[in-house]
This record gives sequence, C-alpha cells and structure tokens, in this order.
Amino acid sequence: MSLFKWIDFPALGDERGFLVALEAEESVPFAIKRVYYIFGTREGEARGFHAHKKLQQVAICITGKCRMILDDGEERSEARLDSPTKGLVIGDLVWREMHDFSEDCVLLVLASEHYDESDYIRDYDEFKNQVKL
Ligand code: TYD
Repeated sequence: MSLFKWIDFPALGDERGFLVALEAEESVPFAIKRVYYIFGTREGEARGFHAHKKLQQVAICITGKCRMILDDGEERSEARLDSPTKGLVIGDLVWREMHDFSEDCVLLVLASEHYDESDYIRDYDEFKNQVKL
C-alpha cells in the first residue's frame, strides 16, 4: 500500500459560500466509527508520533494548516494539509507526525474504529520491527 493518498471533496458552492459533505463508504472509503478534531495547538508543538495496527483515517484541515510526516518504515514523505476540500487517507502501519500547526488550525479526523490504545504503536523501533514482519 502506498504511504497515503488524497481525496478531493467537491465544494458545493453558491453565492452564500461553500459546503463539503463527507459520506461514509462513499466519498470516505470506510464506515466512520469515530470523529475527532485537533485545535488550539500551541506554537512549536508537534503531535502524533505513532502508528496504528489496524485503523483507516482521513484527515482534513478544516481551517488553517499543518504539515504531516508519514513513514512506512522504508520511505518518509510529507503532506501539507491546508484545504477544507482535501482529505489525506492514512492506512495501517504508517508512522505519522504532525508539525507546524498554524494558530487557527482545526484538523478534523475521521476514523474507521473506536479509540483503542492497544491499537497504537508509540515506539518508533517497535514500529520498524512490526513493518518488517
Ligand atoms: P494523542 O494520541 O496523544 O494525540 P496525538 O496523536 O494527536 O498526539 O491523544 C491525546 C489524548 O486524547 C490521549 O489521552 C488519548 C486521547 N484520545 C481519546 O480519548 N480518543 C481519541 O479518539 C483520540 C485520538 C485520543
């Protein structure tokens, strides 16, 4: 599986402004079990630093911007989230770090599973060992 992919959500616009609709198993490629959002991130703070054993997520920067580093154990790449019409799809076993949050950043995340701490790999060496298996 590739490191990540983008979904372009159509912005339904008229003279009043814009609206984006997210539909589970339609524009979002899984049944959504959880939604969370990150906001008010202090300047210079980074988040994430983990991978998931079994979790699909779509991250959308509703307002503001941030930078995500994604790593599958072999390759590292960067994704810039800065648009409410672009969803970043992140699958299993991808190490993610979030950096450079703008003050106004609201990062919305749709997840395929409920929160489960046992699904997290929070140690990078452990992650590297898991992807080698
Ligand atoms: P954490 O995993 O540290 O966030 P990030 O990956 O953005 O650095 O999560 C912060 C806290 O929120 C931690 O105590 C776990 C909790 N949490 C939930 O209770 N439910 C959730 O869906 C998420 C994502 C986190």
